[in-house]
Amino acid sequence: MMVKQLIPAAVMLASAASAWSPTDSYAPGIVECPDYLDDKDADNRVGFLRQADGISDEEHEWMLARDNVTFDNLKLFLSSVNLTDLDTDDFLDKVRKNSSARAPRIGLSFSGGGYRAMLCAAGEIAGLDNRTVGASSHGLPLLGATSYVSGLSGGSWFLSSLVFNNWTSVQDIIDQNGQDNAIWDLEHKMLDPYGINIVKDAKYWDHIKDAVDAKRDAGFNVSMTDPWGRGLSHQFFPGLDDFGESMTFTSLRDWEVFTNHSMPFPIIVSDGRTPGRKIINSNSTVFEFNPYELGSWDPYVDSFADLKYVGTPMDGGKPSGNGSCWAGLDNTGFVFGTSSTLFNQFLLQLNTTSLSGLAYSAAKSFLTDLDNDNNDIAPWTPNPFYNSPYGSSKSIKSADTLYLVDGGEDQQNIPLYPLLSDDREVDVIFAYDNSADTSQNWPSGSSLVYTYERQFFNASANFSFPYVPGVDTFLHNNLTARPTFFGCYASNLTSLMKEVNTTYVPPLVVYTANRPWTFESNTSTFKLKYDDDDKLSMIQNGFAVSTYNNLTIDEDFPKCVACAILQRSKERMGVEMGAECKKCFSDYCWDGSTYTYDDDSLPNDFTKTGRFNNTIDEPNSSEILKMSGSDAPASATADVIVSSTDDSGKIAASTLSASSVSSSSVSSIASSSHSNGAAAAFNVGTSSNWVSMVTLVMSWLALV
Ligand SMILES: *[C@@H]1O[C@H](CO)[C@@H](O)[C@H](O)[C@H]1NC(C)=O
Ligand SMILES: *[C@@H]1O[C@H](CO)[C@@H](O)[C@H](O)[C@H]1NC(C)=O
Ligand SMILES: *[C@@H]1O[C@H](CO)[C@@H](O)[C@H](O)[C@H]1NC(C)=O
Ligand SMILES: *[C@@H]1O[C@H](CO)[C@@H](O)[C@H](O)[C@H]1NC(C)=O
Ligand SMILES: *[C@@H]1O[C@H](CO)[C@@H](O)[C@H](O)[C@H]1NC(C)=O
Ligand SMILES: *[C@@H]1O[C@H](CO)[C@@H](O)[C@H](O)[C@H]1NC(C)=O
Ligand SMILES: *[C@@H]1O[C@H](CO)[C@@H](O)[C@H](O)[C@H]1NC(C)=O
Ligand SMILES: *[C@@H]1O[C@H](CO)[C@@H](O)[C@H](O)[C@H]1NC(C)=O
Ligand SMILES: *[C@@H]1O[C@H](CO)[C@@H](O)[C@H](O)[C@H]1NC(C)=O
Ligand SMILES: *[C@@H]1O[C@H](CO)[C@@H](O)[C@H](O)[C@H]1NC(C)=O
Ligand SMILES: *[C@@H]1O[C@H](CO)[C@@H](O)[C@H](O)[C@H]1NC(C)=O
Ligand SMILES: *[C@@H]1O[C@H](CO)[C@@H](O)[C@H](O)[C@H]1NC(C)=O
Repeated sequence: MMVKQLIPAAVMLASAASAWSPTDSYAPGIVECPDYLDDKDADNRVGFLRQADGISDEEHEWMLARDNVTFDNLKLFLSSVNLTDLDTDDFLDKVRKNSSARAPRIGLSFSGGGYRAMLCAAGEIAGLDNRTVGASSHGLPLLGATSYVSGLSGGSWFLSSLVFNNWTSVQDIIDQNGQDNAIWDLEHKMLDPYGINIVKDAKYWDHIKDAVDAKRDAGFNVSMTDPWGRGLSHQFFPGLDDFGESMTFTSLRDWEVFTNHSMPFPIIVSDGRTPGRKIINSNSTVFEFNPYELGSWDPYVDSFADLKYVGTPMDGGKPSGNGSCWAGLDNTGFVFGTSSTLFNQFLLQLNTTSLSGLAYSAAKSFLTDLDNDNNDIAPWTPNPFYNSPYGSSKSIKSADTLYLVDGGEDQQNIPLYPLLSDDREVDVIFAYDNSADTSQNWPSGSSLVYTYERQFFNASANFSFPYVPGVDTFLHNNLTARPTFFGCYASNLTSLMKEVNTTYVPPLVVYTANRPWTFESNTSTFKLKYDDDDKLSMIQNGFAVSTYNNLTIDEDFPKCVACAILQRSKERMGVEMGAECKKCFSDYCWDGSTYTYDDDSLPNDFTKTGRFNNTIDEPNSSEILKMSGSDAPASATADVIVSSTDDSGKIAASTLSASSVSSSSVSSIASSSHSNGAAAAFNVGTSSNWVSMVTLVMSWLALV
């Protein structure tokens, strides 16, 4: 039985540089409060909380230094692709000297999807990492030029595995495969990591149980997230004596790879959800964990807490109770466990393991004990946002516990949202989609659609996201089969930005979906074990995914990637596009066209992306979209987003609600309630040059 160690403050300070939890245990412990708590003059900050009016000072400082590193690496990458239209060294130097401009910032974003997403992402990043064998000759080695990298769920497992193994490379992980203590030994499920060696399995469960008990003994609520995070940590941190039991997420602040800015800034995404309530993209609260903070940009929360001290009982941002400060709740495994609350699989798959007899009963009774009706929720108690002066959500502010769930639960399965913050100044996002949207476990582009939709709802901060087509178009036009660029021209985004009420041009998005170049990588999200051959094949296929099949499909692909990276800088500097990049953009940019068809059944229960086939011959046609079935709210009103395309391909969008109807293309909207669901009717008028199609995105907001 592990005993919680309370270490005297002096020892704690001395060991601060060791990058471990102040308690050297899984259990949080009391620490000295930070000096800034006494700072009465702090702007936009109370105690541990600050308003989300920008990134933290710490992140700002850190990123300025990282800019110096990425700048040199970007020059290297760009010179290797030989753009003939532009002297990239000279251009970047000019950008740098121009005080009103800034150097390009690149973000990478990796979707969720269990181990499938983890392994695909590993291969995808390997294609961008010059430490991978072959990446310099048939890859896109731009990882060193990357500023941000975000992950959720399985994407957070992959990200945390690299980051908290000292920013190791996927190549290293591959090279160590099969050795003792190799990272990502997935030959057995995390439920029985030693297979039929029941004695070792039983010890493993004891070890996990001790950690969880220690946390409970320290006075903290424990939940299924705890053994889940511990179990995953055994697979991700096998080289550490305690398998990361005492390693906190904020310890990264002290790691040399982080302090010398040789890695990108990592962000992990999770959603807020109150027990018993569903979330959808229009009312979710997107939380992020970064090395400094936990919080949300969304108006519901609009604030960030110093992640290191989350665990301190807080009231209005200040330590409450006896005023003690606590640290250590942000265990790294607990953080990525929170981002990936798939853990009902623990119970469901327990009887598919080789556990038997006592080991089985012990694991089962331990897990059943932690199980509850809301077993996809990771409770963070005490809630750092309790009585927060910021944000509008009463339910979050009044709760003792902050309830977080899998970052993909609101269907935005690629964690793009944090990278849209204007303060982060990301110019291009490489979005890797390893979702299982189709019946065959391939992506359909729906996560981009959900992120696109969300910008029009009150739940979202004023972050804009480029136009994307519906899922039908993604699939029909093969946009999931090849890299596709969205938001290529800032000039086309002005009405969208106006709609969202921002002057900040959103990043260009380079979307790449999982597909079987060399291996059938569409494994189930709930597949909990991979033999070594399959694991390595998944990773190898990922390399092909991010490099457009090892650059064999289009030898100009690296040039086109360079064009995407430089586009926003060129636009800001007023530099004309050359023929080379124009050709690339005509090859890779989504051209705004959509495939039209009638469909009633699109992916989400609550959000319906419908499409009118409303041609000019049928003016004033009316359509009724209706939702029914057990999931339908008893009473509802509709919010409608209409985006229409005119014949020149220009896109306009307007958000309309039942109460404020004003658009040339929509003449009336009515909504009504039905006992078995809800319906909204639209009359779509046609002013002379608005043609073909109107994209309707409907969401039903329950009036509860
Ligand atoms: C970045 O590099 C410039 C020039 O080499 C230097 O003056 C500046 O201090 C560096 N900035 C940071 C934050 O390290
Ligand atoms: C770029 O040019 C250099 C020297 O001319 C050449 O060695 C290299 O192969 C070229 N790279 C590409 C991607 O064309
Ligand atoms: C500096 O950047 C601004 C836009 O940010 C641009 O208008 C201006 O032309 C640039 N100056 C030079 C010398 O390139
Ligand atoms: C693509 O490159 C990777 C990394 O160098 C390599 O492992 C893989 O075999 C290559 N794929 C093909 C089809 O050549
Ligand atoms: C590989 O990238 C790193 C930055 O991540 C850079 O420092 C290093 O010089 C690069 N190595 C090669 C051989 O290009
Ligand atoms: C982490 O990696 C760096 C090189 O990237 C190395 O210098 C350092 O010793 C490593 N630290 C540990 C603890 O392995
Ligand atoms: C596992 O247990 C569940 C009930 O808990 C049962 O429905 C299922 O059939 C069992 N599976 C196997 C493989 O035994
Ligand atoms: C999409 O790919 C399929 C199969 O490769 C092909 O038959 C079809 O023509 C493609 N569609 C478009 C719009 O490119
Ligand atoms: C748009 O943003 C500005 C400043 O950010 C604010 O003053 C204004 O009220 C906003 N307008 C709407 C309609 O939200
Ligand atoms: C966007 O803008 C570019 C250049 O300004 C133009 O060529 C293109 O047709 C526009 N429309 C779309 C949908 O990209
Ligand atoms: C749109 O409707 C017209 C008239 O009903 C029909 O002829 C046409 O095929 C439809 N187009 C599509 C893409 O479904
Ligand atoms: C979000 O909307 C759905 C559908 O209307 C509703 O069931 C749910 O309760 C809402 N959730 C929250 C947290 O408001």
